[in-house]
Amino acid sequence: MSTTVDFNDRMLSLGLARVAEQAAIASADWIGRGDEKAADQAAVNAMREQLNKLEIEGVVVIGEGERDEAPMLFIGEEVGAGDGPGVDIALDPLEGTTLTAKDMPNALTVIAMGPRGSMLHAPDTYMDKLAIGPGYPEGIVTLDMPPATRVSALASAKGCMPSDITVCILERPRHEAMIEEVRSTGAGIRLITDGDVAGVMHCAEPDVTGIDMYMGQGGAPEGVLAAAALKCMGGQMQGRLVFRNDDERGRAAKAGITDLDKVYTRDEMVTADVIFAATGVTNGSILSGIQREPGWITTETLLMRSKTGSVRRMVYRNPRKSEG
Ligand code: FBP
Repeated sequence: MSTTVDFNDRMLSLGLARVAEQAAIASADWIGRGDEKAADQAAVNAMREQLNKLEIEGVVVIGEGERDEAPMLFIGEEVGAGDGPGVDIALDPLEGTTLTAKDMPNALTVIAMGPRGSMLHAPDTYMDKLAIGPGYPEGIVTLDMPPATRVSALASAKGCMPSDITVCILERPRHEAMIEEVRSTGAGIRLITDGDVAGVMHCAEPDVTGIDMYMGQGGAPEGVLAAAALKCMGGQMQGRLVFRNDDERGRAAKAGITDLDKVYTRDEMVTADVIFAATGVTNGSILSGIQREPGWITTETLLMRSKTGSVRRMVYRNPRKSEG
């Protein structure tokens, strides 16, 4: 059945927004409560429950981990009510578990859906990432350039000084040299403690977020989700998997990856048109977080389709804690 039913992205998109909304609502009780695991579990349960209501034959290709590590929404898990198109799903029910536990900005629930084979089956390793917004010639910045060269190349393409460029980087010891090199150009750096899907998404709207470029190593699964977001919003991204040991190389082999040094462009990570939804959990520069008032809960969701480039912002107010 699944192979003969078209991926009707238009019809499925509202359902995808509901999935993201309900995961965010479920994690809301855990904002600022210092318990990452509980916040994540609540989002996972709700996301899975909502996905299973959609008329799809879905397979999780980017999920909570491998089957033996994650009881729910593991890679390869089949989701959906069946009787619909065969789709691949990339998800992160709570992107920024620590941000949520500490009530810090930019925690999101994130999900992308496309036809079978549309997204790179990234193993659970790190990925070197580089992203810029739309409107620049393809390849003006690359992963092979040193960080300072990326800044000067972007500045000349933007027609500004390097000191007018702001780069977003995850604050990690592994990025110390990169941070120093970027600072040596005069560029500003917005350091984030977590949440590089949002970090990459910031590049698509530099006038709103103040971020021109994202660079650094973060999770490979989050890299594919970020590529799906940029495919809808516009912007360039490159990613290269990073392997620290044989176990990680083994994960790549299991995912069918043979060229371990390959630099993936955005469209090599996400090869067909997809739909993407993200709901704010904590307040951030892209999305408002969950608002709770007595008897009501309000969410903001970004719902996007790469086929049309359409971007919807949806505010959802619900008198109940969860949907039936
Ligand atoms: P969690 O939501 O699983 O905590 O991940 C958050 C995150 O910051 C990602 O956005 C990022 O890709 C990854 O962790 C970075 O990994 P690490 O914390 O190991 O540097």
